[in-house]
Amino acid sequence: MSTQTSDTVSYETEDGIGLIVLNNAPVNAASHDLRRGICAAVASLEADETVRAIAIYGATRAFIAGADISEFGKPIKSPILPEVCLALENCTRPVVAVMHGATLGGGLEVAISAHARVALPGLLTGFPEVTLGVLPGSGGTQRGPRLIGIAATLDLATTGRRIGADEALKMGLIDRIADGEPRDVALASAREAIDGTLATRRTVDLPVTPDPAALGRYADKLAETQPHLFSPHKCVEAIAASTGPFDQGMELERKLFFDCIDSPQRAGLIHAFFAERAVSKFPEQGAQARDIGSVGVIGGGTMGSGIASAVLLAGLPVTLTERDDDALERARATIGGNLAGAVKRGKLSEDKRAVILSQMLTTTTDQSALSDADLVIEAVFEDMAVKHEIFTRLDGICKPGAILASNTSYLDINEIAAAAQRPAEIVGLHFFSPAHVMRLIEVVVADRTAPDVVATGFALAKRLGKVAVRAGVCDGFIGNRILSHYRKVADYLVMDGASPRQVDRAMIDFGFAMGPFAVSDLAGMDIAWAARKRKAATRDPDERYVAVADRICENGWFGRKAGQGYYIYGDGAPVPNPKVDAIIAEERARAGIRPRDFTDTEIVDRYMTAMVSEAARVLADGIALRPVDIDAVFLFGYGFPRHRGGPMMYADTIGAQALIDRIECFAAEDAQYWQVPPLLRQMAETGRSFADMNKGG
Ligand code: 3HC
Ligand code: NAI
Repeated sequence: MSTQTSDTVSYETEDGIGLIVLNNAPVNAASHDLRRGICAAVASLEADETVRAIAIYGATRAFIAGADISEFGKPIKSPILPEVCLALENCTRPVVAVMHGATLGGGLEVAISAHARVALPGLLTGFPEVTLGVLPGSGGTQRGPRLIGIAATLDLATTGRRIGADEALKMGLIDRIADGEPRDVALASAREAIDGTLATRRTVDLPVTPDPAALGRYADKLAETQPHLFSPHKCVEAIAASTGPFDQGMELERKLFFDCIDSPQRAGLIHAFFAERAVSKFPEQGAQARDIGSVGVIGGGTMGSGIASAVLLAGLPVTLTERDDDALERARATIGGNLAGAVKRGKLSEDKRAVILSQMLTTTTDQSALSDADLVIEAVFEDMAVKHEIFTRLDGICKPGAILASNTSYLDINEIAAAAQRPAEIVGLHFFSPAHVMRLIEVVVADRTAPDVVATGFALAKRLGKVAVRAGVCDGFIGNRILSHYRKVADYLVMDGASPRQVDRAMIDFGFAMGPFAVSDLAGMDIAWAARKRKAATRDPDERYVAVADRICENGWFGRKAGQGYYIYGDGAPVPNPKVDAIIAEERARAGIRPRDFTDTEIVDRYMTAMVSEAARVLADGIALRPVDIDAVFLFGYGFPRHRGGPMMYADTIGAQALIDRIECFAAEDAQYWQVPPLLRQMAETGRSFADMNKGG
């Protein structure tokens, strides 16, 4: 008979064994109710003299996925997780934790407070707290070193990497691996704890071997690679204290944990965690996604090869078509290289790579080979006439029900759809470069795209391990429309007195991995140049136009691939290109501009305010469903610093009125560009934030 100790925890006894069952679907987050339930169950079982050993296991798909993140930043209710851990550790009967599925963060801390650990083969464990801006705050930094040593704890806690059962066993984090249902393993393990075949001991009683070399190594590495992040450094500090008395170490860990909880980085990182999940809620999600058993890709250039690689890595066969055999050969070589990269990163075996290339990838110049594909993704030149011709032809070739998707960056999906007789089956699937690495896909929904086709786009993204965001049709959808707007500010800053290097450095200091000019060099300046020439005839004549990039391109200095662009690329680190400085000086003189100094703060303020302004217009136009969708686009597609949560979260930290004040101040210099979005005015008047809009307010 089972006794409920809280809504999510129960216990039962069988043959002198107490079983504590955790049932907080979906992943047993350690909510207040779960914590309360565990403590009450331990107390009841300890009071039962017939109980000789206790096992604790999860009835959901996880043991415990960690502390309940949604409780962070709110008042904490007792018992807190460290108290749960102590209750288990100090229990007078041997306690075995049965770790299955996600056993992360606070879940691992509960497990290492038990007296023995048995894992099921599908275990996923580790200390991912740093990815959320905190540190293991329930004894992980103190019990970890006692169980697996200081170096291994530093590794898990500062990287947040997740490991499986085999590695956990090797590390000494678990005692054994057992297969079976969690309840059966729990009963068997507890029996073994009683008869002594499974050794039990309190982690707190184990000695810690000092390891100043490892502590120094990690501190140095973090100072070099993550100087702007807060929590990884605090992990090192807490782990360093593990060689002292346990209670003191716990006290320091608690203090540092709350320092992390109070940091804005924690709020940003947790927003990013929930953003990734929030975007999977979209209006068409009730529709049944179509089965996708094979994918066609048209065009094997930069994007087509990357998309084909991503699809193949997800286990789906691909037929790729190109214009001629040379292009096919190049595509095959690029895909082979991408897969070799996956082998190097340990994501694929060499044998599997060979099988994929020989059996799952078909390359041909004959488009009729796409007749059987369930989904075809077009990635040819960014030219409406070319896309039109392809979609008309595909419509005749592909089987009824096949979905035709375009990877266009900017073009109108409705216009593309008009080329085919199956408008319901046409959708934008906008991948980001490199497509086998970048996680974002914008699912661009045209006027007549069927709900199940939208759902299929999301299902495919999930299968590819990517994050799909629903976008409406406009020039550039969510991300590129906003980018087109704020990127101009970087050019204005340079014309008015900043250097490309200063702008890049200011944005790197803000948290971006690269600045806008280094990104242009990486992407190849010729692509944007071609787009500017295409749009020249329709450009607003009143708009301020900066010709520096055109002048650079006229010299063929397209960036990295040409050896020079804004920077010169040689053997060492890239250096600013003096010939570009000369062009900038000429263009300033031509426009009659007397350059002035900008502080890094002024640069960041202008850049970010421009980004937020266009984002507010994208939202008001209904191109993005919610502010969080824009945040996800920038986090997963544009390298926005994760610890800042995204542009809309950044906007909330500034406030609508302060943003309006900034825009009005900048408008004194350029009133055509700097205009206050009506949505920001409404927000300032009503006090509504982007966070409120995410909640439906
Ligand atoms: N707290 C609250 N909710 C959580 C959660 C957590 N720790 N972990 C997952 N969830 C929620 C998700 O938000 C999602 O909710 P939704 O359905 O309403 O969108 C639901 O559980 C299912 O999650 P996923 O969609 O991510 O399911 P997956 O099966 O793809 O992944 C997972 C499961 C691997 C557990 C993944 O959710 C995950 O990585 N979770 C975070 C784990 C983590 O970081 N734990 C450490 C927390 S910090 C901590 O423990 C501090 C301690 O040291 C004091
Ligand atoms: P690319 O120039 O590298 O590749 C295009 C390929 O299409 C070429 O290999 C070309 O031979 C092939 N092609 C042209 N017409 C064809 C036809 N009729 N049949 C078969 N193949 C044909 O271009 P890229 O960069 O891969 O871009 C492709 C599309 O993806 C464009 O619409 C672009 O806007 C979009 N895109 C580009 C991104 C980027 O960063 N490069 C990012 C996201 C989208």
